[in-house]
Amino acid sequence: MIRMSDSLASLARSSRLASYISMIGIRYLTTRAASSLQEIIKASSYIGRDDEFANDIDWNNLGFGLTPTDYMYIMKCGRDDEFKQGQLNRYGNIELSPSAGVLNYGQGLFEGTKAYRGEDKRLFLFRPQQNAIRMQIGAQRMCMPSPSTEQFVDALKKTVLANRRWIPPPGKGSLYVRPLLIGSGPILGLAPASEYTFLVFASPVGNYFKDGTAPLNLYVEDEFHRSTRGGAGDVKSITNYAPVLKSLSRARNRGFSDVLYLDSVHKRYIEEVSSCNVFILKRNVLSTPATNGTILEGITRNSIIEIARDLAFQVEERPIPVEELLDADEVFCTGTAVGIAPVGSITYKGNRIEYKTSNQLVCLRLYSRLVGIQRGIIEDKMGWMIEID
Ligand SMILES: Cc1ncc(COP(=O)(O)O)c(C=O)c1O
Repeated sequence: MIRMSDSLASLARSSRLASYISMIGIRYLTTRAASSLQEIIKASSYIGRDDEFANDIDWNNLGFGLTPTDYMYIMKCGRDDEFKQGQLNRYGNIELSPSAGVLNYGQGLFEGTKAYRGEDKRLFLFRPQQNAIRMQIGAQRMCMPSPSTEQFVDALKKTVLANRRWIPPPGKGSLYVRPLLIGSGPILGLAPASEYTFLVFASPVGNYFKDGTAPLNLYVEDEFHRSTRGGAGDVKSITNYAPVLKSLSRARNRGFSDVLYLDSVHKRYIEEVSSCNVFILKRNVLSTPATNGTILEGITRNSIIEIARDLAFQVEERPIPVEELLDADEVFCTGTAVGIAPVGSITYKGNRIEYKTSNQLVCLRLYSRLVGIQRGIIEDKMGWMIEID
C-alpha cells in the first residue's frame, strides 16, 4: 500500500532532477504560430530567460479560466506497465481512438497543483510528490499503471519550465498544473485499457470563485451525494466530477457559490464541497471530516492541519454532524484551486446560518502562513516547496 507520507526518498531524487534541469537550461519559443501537434521538443533544447512574461494577458484579472499555454508533457505506457519516453509537445489537441477506455468507461484520473514565482524570481512547486502518490493510489483503485513519483515530478518541472512565461508575477496568481492519467488504449468489453497516457498541461490562474475572495455561500445538498461507501470518492477519478455538476449548477443558479455534501449513509455528517475540503473552528479546536474512503484527502487540507498544529490549535479529524455548523465560530474550505476560502453562510433545509467575516479570521491567519511559504516569504520548515531551477 502506498502512503501519502512515503515521499522523502523521492524528494531527494527530485532535488537532483532540479539541478539537472537547471544545468541543461530551457529556451522558450516565443511564437505560438509555429505550433504543430506533431512537433516534439526535448527539454534539453531550451535556454531559460528569467525576465520573460507572456504578452496579451491581464495579470491583474486572472480568474480560473483556461488560458492555453505553450507546451504539454506526454508519456505513454503499453502492456508492459512501464511509462517511458516522456516528452514535451506543443500544447494542442490529442488524438484518441473512439473506443479509448477513458471515453467509454471513464478510466481516468487527474491531479491539480500549482507553480509559484517567488519574490526573488525563483520558481517553486508545492508538494508535487503528494500529488504523485495520490495519483498512484488512485491508479491502483482504477486498475491503471501510474508514473513513478520521480517521473511525475520530473514531468511537472519540465512542463512548468517550458511554460514559465505563463507563471503570473508574484502576488497575481499561479500556474495551475493539471496532470492527467487516462486509459487511452481501445477497448470494447468492460476491462482495463491496453495503453495509458500521462499528460500534463498548465494554465495561469487567479481566484477560483467568481466573486474573488468574498466569503462563500454554501448550499447543503440533501438529495444527491458526491460519493458512497465502497465507491471511489477518495481518489481523484474523473468519474467523481460530472455527477456533481447537476447539484452545482442548481446551487449556482440559486445564487450559492458551491455545494456542501453529506454522507450517503446517515445523510447527516458533512463530507466536502464539490472540489475542496471543509473545516470548522470552535474556539481553539479545528475540526475536519475524517478521510474514511468517501472524501478526497486534500494536500491543502493536510498542510493546514500541520500549520494549525504548529500554531497550537487542537485539530480533530472526525465525523462532523451537520448541526455542528450552527455552533461554529468559523467555517472554511481548502484546496489547491481555492486556497483557503472563508464561508459566509450555509443554507440547510431552507435555514441560512451566517458566519462573521472580517480580516481577523483564524482561517486567514492560517492562509497567510501557507501563502507565505508558497511564495518563499516564510521559512519552509516542512520542506514543502520544490524549487524548479
Ligand atoms: C473533491 C475534492 N476535494 C478536495 C480537494 C482539495 O484537494 P487539494 O488540497 O489536494 O487540492 C479537491 C481538489 O483537488 C477535490 O477535487
